[in-house]
Amino acid sequence: MKPNMKIQVTGAAEAARAALHIVLLPEGATPAIGNGKGSALELAARLLRRKEWKAEFRSDLLLYGQEAQDRLLLVGLGPAKEVDAEKLRRAAAVGLARARKLKVKTVGLSLEGAALKSIKPAEAGCALAEGLLLGSYKTPTSAKKPDEKSAGMLTVRLGASRQKEAFAAGVERGRIVAEATNLTRELADLPGNQLTPTILAQKAARMAKAEGLKCRIYRKKDLERMKMGGILEVAKGGVEPPVLIEMIYQPRRFKKTVCLVGKGLTFDSGGISLKPSNKMGDMKYDMCGGGAVIGAMCAVARLKPSVKVIGLVPSSDNMPSGTAQKPGDVLKTASGLTVEVLNTDAEGRLILSDALHHATGFEPDHIIDLATLTGACVVALGHDACGLFSNDEKLSKRLQEAAEVTADRAWPMPLFPEYQEDLKSPVADLANISGGQGPGAGTAAWFLSRFVGECSWAHLDIAGVAYGQRNRDYIGGKGATGAGVRLLAQFIESLS
Ligand code: BES
Ligand code: ZN
Ligand code: ZN
Repeated sequence: MKPNMKIQVTGAAEAARAALHIVLLPEGATPAIGNGKGSALELAARLLRRKEWKAEFRSDLLLYGQEAQDRLLLVGLGPAKEVDAEKLRRAAAVGLARARKLKVKTVGLSLEGAALKSIKPAEAGCALAEGLLLGSYKTPTSAKKPDEKSAGMLTVRLGASRQKEAFAAGVERGRIVAEATNLTRELADLPGNQLTPTILAQKAARMAKAEGLKCRIYRKKDLERMKMGGILEVAKGGVEPPVLIEMIYQPRRFKKTVCLVGKGLTFDSGGISLKPSNKMGDMKYDMCGGGAVIGAMCAVARLKPSVKVIGLVPSSDNMPSGTAQKPGDVLKTASGLTVEVLNTDAEGRLILSDALHHATGFEPDHIIDLATLTGACVVALGHDACGLFSNDEKLSKRLQEAAEVTADRAWPMPLFPEYQEDLKSPVADLANISGGQGPGAGTAAWFLSRFVGECSWAHLDIAGVAYGQRNRDYIGGKGATGAGVRLLAQFIESLS
């Protein structure tokens, strides 16, 4: 998607002169009115003094001054003490939605000074840029409504009231992360026939080349040589050849190495253990973990942290056919561990097992995988947070912190050793599903843990948050969210 928004950091006065001036305002504050008698700002101040509008979070008020071009939109932030990055993201997106409806070409957005009591200018700049750019993403559809077609380029002037340099640096960081997240959303929203493993690999390679990353695509022959039975067995029911995408960011100086691994199922029909047809189309989103890794690599390439980062995406379709794997089959993964496939719909863990094993070869300090792995995780946490499983308490804490800062939420889940009993098989080292009524998300995580050796590792089950999330103004509703990209970028930067 071509960007449909330009963001500039300007002085407050310049922002105020745009076709629409948006002021994000905490409760109890009044906007500075300067000498503008009869202006929309003066009107706003009067209404606020009379408490006729209270700046409740997400509420908005459009006012016109006496001059024809004087147009002001107030967006409430709620109590000043409670203003945080997430409130700014959401309020910016609320303002943007109004601006789009008014069809203006330039918007000035400023943050009332009182809001900066509880948040640093750099963080505020980052959050505003994220709210605007994530909020301007449109799910690509072929049948566009006429008003969407005409929604052209919007220039947003972000008025910096203090510490302009820090604010501008924050805006730049927000822009990088939001654009990378939108790249992930774009990949994920493509239908399965337009995003095969081969096409996903081409797109990843193109991004890597443009951003100066090393990239290598392992094709079917390579996967055979590497004895990646997990990926190959899942792919054999379909006609699309599988791939393993490897992207590497290596700065001159680094102390830590992180491997990111993302499930890249371009379509999951369930295979012979066929899924019910209701909502099966959503399974084009089964590559969201892989998409998030590609987006995160793009962000890392631009943010340039002093951490080596390797991104791995095993990618395949999961289809039923005469050549598909069958329940009861036994396969051998690249690690040497054998797996009894009791349900061909538990395919994500099979392709991930080989990619996780490949990741250990880089001897990283941490491995983090992201996958739309289980419906059970959606039952557990709904659409508000992904499940976070880890064999390393410290790593888990760091990821929780990054999740908190970015509001790209992750919630810790247990990985009890007893789970291994659920995955016992009489004919292989492991079964791919739990025999009983086990905790589905936990046993899936336990399965993955068997392929990382002694490495510090975390698994994010993003099945509930990768698409169709609860509305948060800048994400949510139908379509892909890019879940995981902001979290990973924040986490990696925290290591450098
Ligand atoms: N891709 C699905 C998981 C999923 C479900 C993602 C709903 C997004 C929304 C995964 O491959 C799958 O089918 N898992 C099975 C595992 C079961 C067979 C043990 C599931 O969750 O039902
Ligand atoms: Zn499945
Ligand atoms: Zn799947």
